[in-house]
Amino acid sequence: MKSFAVTVIATAALVAPLAWAQPKPSLLADKSALVADLMRQMTLEEKVGQLRLISIGPEMPAPQLAEEIAAGRVGGTFNSINHKEQRPLQEAAVGKSRLRIPVLFAYDVLHGHRTSFPIGLGLASTWDMDAVRLTARTAAVEAAADGVDVTFAPTVDISRDPRWGRTSEGFGEDPHLVSQVARAMVQGFQNGARRGEVLQRDSIMASVKHFALYGAVEGGRDYNIVDMSPMRMYNDYLPPYKAAIDAGSGGVMIALNTVNGQPATSNTWLLQDLLRKDWGFKGVTFSDHGAITELMRHGVARDEREAAKLAITAGVDMSMADQVYLKELPGLVKSGQVPMKTLDNAVREVLGTKYDLGLFHDPFLRIGKAEDDPADLKADSRLHRPPARDVARRSLVLLENRNRTLPIAKGASVALVGPLADAPIDMIGVWSAQAVWKQAVTLRSGMEQALAGKGKMLYARGANVSEDKAVVEYLNFLNWDEPEVVQDKRSPQEMIDEAVAAAGQADVVVAAVGESRGMSHESSSRTRLDLPESQQALLKALKATGKPLVIVLMNGRPLTLGWEQANADAMLETWFAGTEGGHAIADVLFGDANPSGKLPLSLPRSVGQIPTYYNYPRLGRPFTPGKPGNYTSQYFDEPQGALYPFGYGLSYTEFEVSKPVLSASTVKAGGTVEASVTVKNTGDRAGETVVQLYIQDVAASVVRPVKELKGFRKLMLQPGETQVVKFAIGNEQLSFYNQQLQRVSEPGGFNVQIGLNSRDVQEASFELLP
Ligand code: BGC
Repeated sequence: MKSFAVTVIATAALVAPLAWAQPKPSLLADKSALVADLMRQMTLEEKVGQLRLISIGPEMPAPQLAEEIAAGRVGGTFNSINHKEQRPLQEAAVGKSRLRIPVLFAYDVLHGHRTSFPIGLGLASTWDMDAVRLTARTAAVEAAADGVDVTFAPTVDISRDPRWGRTSEGFGEDPHLVSQVARAMVQGFQNGARRGEVLQRDSIMASVKHFALYGAVEGGRDYNIVDMSPMRMYNDYLPPYKAAIDAGSGGVMIALNTVNGQPATSNTWLLQDLLRKDWGFKGVTFSDHGAITELMRHGVARDEREAAKLAITAGVDMSMADQVYLKELPGLVKSGQVPMKTLDNAVREVLGTKYDLGLFHDPFLRIGKAEDDPADLKADSRLHRPPARDVARRSLVLLENRNRTLPIAKGASVALVGPLADAPIDMIGVWSAQAVWKQAVTLRSGMEQALAGKGKMLYARGANVSEDKAVVEYLNFLNWDEPEVVQDKRSPQEMIDEAVAAAGQADVVVAAVGESRGMSHESSSRTRLDLPESQQALLKALKATGKPLVIVLMNGRPLTLGWEQANADAMLETWFAGTEGGHAIADVLFGDANPSGKLPLSLPRSVGQIPTYYNYPRLGRPFTPGKPGNYTSQYFDEPQGALYPFGYGLSYTEFEVSKPVLSASTVKAGGTVEASVTVKNTGDRAGETVVQLYIQDVAASVVRPVKELKGFRKLMLQPGETQVVKFAIGNEQLSFYNQQLQRVSEPGGFNVQIGLNSRDVQEASFELLP
């Protein structure tokens, strides 16, 4: 991965704009002394105030929030990213509040801040951790320049049910891959600083979410319950949170769901025993939006007082958008129902976090001085377009390429059709932070620029994303202050006719189809995962023209693509590729870039087949190919297995991988075996691929997965070039949590499988000796 310099665009203040009393140097130099000194002086109400995280809104206009802060009733705010808005708030904190404690500013910075990078699934599809780290680093630089101290990210919820709209935000279905991405994101946001170290002014604190298991909501319906065996939790769902914490994530956001009968927000086992005691987490925890009040709806708290008590006792430090701490904690502490020590623990974390953010050294560190404010917050010069284009190229997954339909010659005449071909707002995906949709390059504009003066391009919209009124109404609701979903008023047939006419004049048809960004968002669960009917009709009409059909998918979750797989001449999964998406996709379509993305989750054939994850536990009656219907585990009305497997993705060149060779056929407990393969680029152009290592435990004390990803390497090979790839296999790769939740590696046989996707692998075996 090429490295890019990330420039700090806004100059942050070296001298604060307001005379504020910096703590004594002896205290500034010693975090625990400073925190203890403040806590000694704080009233009960001031302590409770530190736990309150609220935002400006209709019920809390900016001047009122400033008053609340001056009164010591607020510890931090979220969603304020304008210096003009932030400055008076920080001035109220350090100029007017009794103890001059700064407020922190938090925001959802997930896949870029001003520059939108590909959504989570796209980032994971790169399988390139340098690229992932760079996106978080760039986002941090941009967000810090906008006064952001803390991001509610990364979202590392393993998701194996694509009906769940937030699948888009996360990094897929696999514990190993998601853990790697989680680590790289935290490192990027915090620029390598670990929890407890003071962050630089162009870094922001990560707050990994949603702890825990949010991606496993039953039926993929958002906010639904999660009920899961402890073994599955430990082996599959918890590792990414742990990886983010081990990488130094300063914060943890608590999930909205229940975890085995207890909401995460009131779950003492989760927040105390696991997070703090077992994992040694020392940072701050945030509730999710309104989650403490929701304890009443869950039916575990009778009233607000009980909700506040449950949450603080469980270990929720800051309460987001809830008033119950403010209202109830003073009384709870005074009456002895909540020990002062419990409150103090939470306050200590919040103050410690502010210290780590550098805010006691300079409360205006990331806000800067008024005279340094950028004239135009939305100026294009504040964006980082080159890395956005580069990472977006790497995130594209080529699913089909029959008869070398791609790349398209630049001299060709191309018909570009489809509702997503010219949809800048969808390009930037959801949770797009401060990305401005007008600055996004659409596929139409990317292709026009690529073809300029060379080929001919015809454009026709062809269809609306959906003709379903309820769907459109829902999407408009989700678009908040952005423009409404573009709904062409022409009849579906008229639009299709126009697209077919354009196809008739072209050598090749590119159809950009998929979802509007709001279809893959918080609360956007779907029961059907096929393309909406309007788009299916368009594709069928285009197919009937007989012209080569290239399907470019834009979507935030796996779709069911049976017809498309069978009928497309080429198919490219682009997720929502960000500000530079249109350029990046055009680069791949015209061959200026060779696709190298690999699926971070399996694509199911149908909704009925869900869950379709590749690393499922072994069965007594596994499906046996060639013997349908003979009492083996299968759906008799559909072919078995994913339509496209985890780890899959084509290139414009071809690669050959040799059978794995092991350094030994036996290894003693605690030892290491080395597996190596030779990879050759047998095609005619340079390209990157991802060599993937899977392990299968032949027989264990409990049922283990059919295979599990345990390592991968992305490499670039010139035509004809070969490279040897080696993986060390030791305790980390072989061990798992057993039924007693002890991490063990058990003697016995192991199969080592290596390939370029999870399905097509070659195997070698060894024996782990006692
Ligand atoms: C989401 C969180 C997010 C928070 C603040 C909630 O609705 O679940 O992921 O961080 O809002 O925007």
